[in-house]
Amino acid sequence: MISVIILGAGNVANHLFKAFKKSDQATVKQWYNRSLNTIKQFSNQTEITDNLAQIKDADLYILAVSDDAVKELSAKLPFANRLVVHTSGSVNIHDIDKKHRRGVLYPLQTFSKNSDMDFTNVPICIEAIESEDYHLLKKIAVSLGSPTKKVNSDQRQVLHLAAVFVNNFTNQLYRLGHEISESEAADFDLLKPLILETAKKIEHLSPYMAQTGPAKRNDKTTLKKHLKLLEDKPHHKTVYELLTKSIQLTHGGKKL
Ligand SMILES: NC(=O)c1ccc[n+]([C@@H]2O[C@H](COP(=O)([O-])OP(=O)(O)OC[C@H]3O[C@@H](n4cnc5c(N)ncnc54)[C@H](OP(=O)(O)O)[C@@H]3O)[C@@H](O)[C@H]2O)c1
Repeated sequence: MISVIILGAGNVANHLFKAFKKSDQATVKQWYNRSLNTIKQFSNQTEITDNLAQIKDADLYILAVSDDAVKELSAKLPFANRLVVHTSGSVNIHDIDKKHRRGVLYPLQTFSKNSDMDFTNVPICIEAIESEDYHLLKKIAVSLGSPTKKVNSDQRQVLHLAAVFVNNFTNQLYRLGHEISESEAADFDLLKPLILETAKKIEHLSPYMAQTGPAKRNDKTTLKKHLKLLEDKPHHKTVYELLTKSIQLTHGGKKL
């Protein structure tokens, strides 16, 4: 059994902990968080601590902490020459203190503590300096049920940037759509099949081929009507104009 210690107790750490519980290859030996209160409820399932000096010996240490904390926390760990990885899309592998064997387990998904996650839908991007560490990380990721991919720091950085476009920005557009529909008490739920179909379509069509709508068709009257409806919502209007321009640039239509 591979022994793992998780550091951090946010969205990713919680989902990793649950997923490790189902693994027959790896087990969480200890869970560290700087505030013990957050993980107290798990004290009957694994050993918990908020004291770095009490961290045990293990095969793998996963820093599932804020990006900005990786460097500092890895330097503070009171041991050396053990395998320490982070879970970030944008932090360089070399930001982990060089006294450790270093690696990355980047789960390319969106995690929220209170939303279930099936790890068969979580591709894990793996990076390691030493090839034996890479193989251990791959074994662990596979034991969680995840597909895996060897990805270097430059590739991971652009995947993370693309993920911000396809996930965070898309979700913000849902939010703006929600506000717009609410302004006339129209039912946002009616848009949910459209949201799901938009995502489903790119399983078999490229995003370029899947595009539809007034910006792509350059339906000027409809575009003008939409802008008029957004006159009292300057922020929504700015986003509408920006994305319309972007679609027209991609599809070679006339500019707004
Ligand atoms: N959420 C996602 O969808 C997602 C997806 C893929 C990768 N990631 C990556 O996974 C990592 C964790 O993300 P998350 O969403 O789980 O974050 P999160 O929910 O905000 O949790 C952050 C954790 O980091 C701890 N922390 C913050 N600063 C610290 C410090 N200076 N020293 C020690 N611990 C510190 C926090 O401790 P407290 O509990 O005490 O505040 C908390 O447990 C990040 O690198 C992120 O880029 C996130």
